[in-house]
Amino acid sequence: MADLRVNFLGIEFKNPVLAASAEPTSSVENLKKVIESGVGGLVLKTITDSEAMRSLSSQTRWRFLDEEHRVCRGEIPRLFTLYGRTGLQEKGPREWMREIKELQPLARDEDCVMIGSIASTGIDGWVKLAQICEEAGLRIIELNFGCPHPSQMEGMKTGMLVGQDKDLAAEVVGAVTESVAVPVMVKLTPQVADVAEMARVVVEAGAAGVTLTNRFVGFLVDVDTGKPLLYGTAGVGGPWVKPLTLRWIYQVYRDLGIPISGSNGVYDARDVLEFMMTGATVVQMCSAVMAHGYKWFTKTIRDLEEMLDRRGYHSVREIIGIAARNALSYEEMSRIPKEKAVIIKDLCVDCGRCVESCFYGAMRYEDGEITIKEGNCKGCGICVCVCPKGAITLVQ
Ligand SMILES: Cc1cc2nc3c(=O)[nH]c(=O)nc-3n(C[C@H](O)[C@H](O)[C@H](O)COP(=O)(O)O)c2cc1C
Repeated sequence: MADLRVNFLGIEFKNPVLAASAEPTSSVENLKKVIESGVGGLVLKTITDSEAMRSLSSQTRWRFLDEEHRVCRGEIPRLFTLYGRTGLQEKGPREWMREIKELQPLARDEDCVMIGSIASTGIDGWVKLAQICEEAGLRIIELNFGCPHPSQMEGMKTGMLVGQDKDLAAEVVGAVTESVAVPVMVKLTPQVADVAEMARVVVEAGAAGVTLTNRFVGFLVDVDTGKPLLYGTAGVGGPWVKPLTLRWIYQVYRDLGIPISGSNGVYDARDVLEFMMTGATVVQMCSAVMAHGYKWFTKTIRDLEEMLDRRGYHSVREIIGIAARNALSYEEMSRIPKEKAVIIKDLCVDCGRCVESCFYGAMRYEDGEITIKEGNCKGCGICVCVCPKGAITLVQ
């Protein structure tokens, strides 16, 4: 069996699958289930000193949506959207951390690394919250610079608004890292032009690593009523976000080579592999578990082990960043051998589907059959995807 252990920020994790900061890590009852599911670690629901961010949780609303953004009833498709709003941990930080201390023996017995998550509206608040987490024995502190909701709340400079302000982000990271001994990582918002640049800013300010990323802000419409779904803007995400997140993990891994925790778009073990091959050392999960329950963690870890075995890896550590290191620049891509489409005559039924989707004038319908005008074919591959009979292939 492949060895699943990883070292992240100097701490040993029994496996790289972590519960993300969210509702599954928001109560002792839930946390026990998360720990017992076998995860290598968990990030507690973000604590805050902001009354407004706490009370937003009393208006929590969530909808799983299908590929057409219709509300799911029973069936949740693989590429679902999770759309909705919630606030931060409703309990006061000190009261909540007393409960967390009582959970420490279980976390230790199960070898599950508990990570704190914090969000404040002032520098002193960030520092105090970090110290409260450290006193409670939390091994890493994640700064939540990605919560999407403050952007829609009057005067609420926390979450993604900090993640969009380089100076403030650096100031918060500097103040927190000076006041605690445990490693500090920053969960960034994807809602900036350059996530890699923000990663550089927070690491130069003292962060030991980054979590890439929190969720986007979205807006959806109910066309029958002409009103927005769930009354206004909401957080949006789901497994379809994966390529957007992986792009930033790739770029941060390639340009900065810093420890990365992946989040936003992980559905199953295959996604865990993709996130790690792109450069993440640990991978956080939230929406998929909210769809399928805590057992989804256990299944993901088991499947991950099997997938590594099947591919001949002895340790999950071998895969970290391999895809990122294999990625070519556009300039290098220009030197790879060209491909051309070829029709497999026996399979082709001359339906013309490829002609409709060829925008280079290569696929033609002439004298009752499909032909390829060689010089026009760029080997783009669209015809291969649309052919209903598998009658087109690409050759070099
Ligand atoms: C219901 C819900 C609550 C969340 N609460 C928090 C939070 O308190 N702090 C935080 O940093 N991220 C929070 N998030 C974001 C998740 O931690 C995670 O980054 C995001 O859902 C993307 O991962 P996923 O694709 O696995 O869902 C929340 C997400 C959801 C869906």
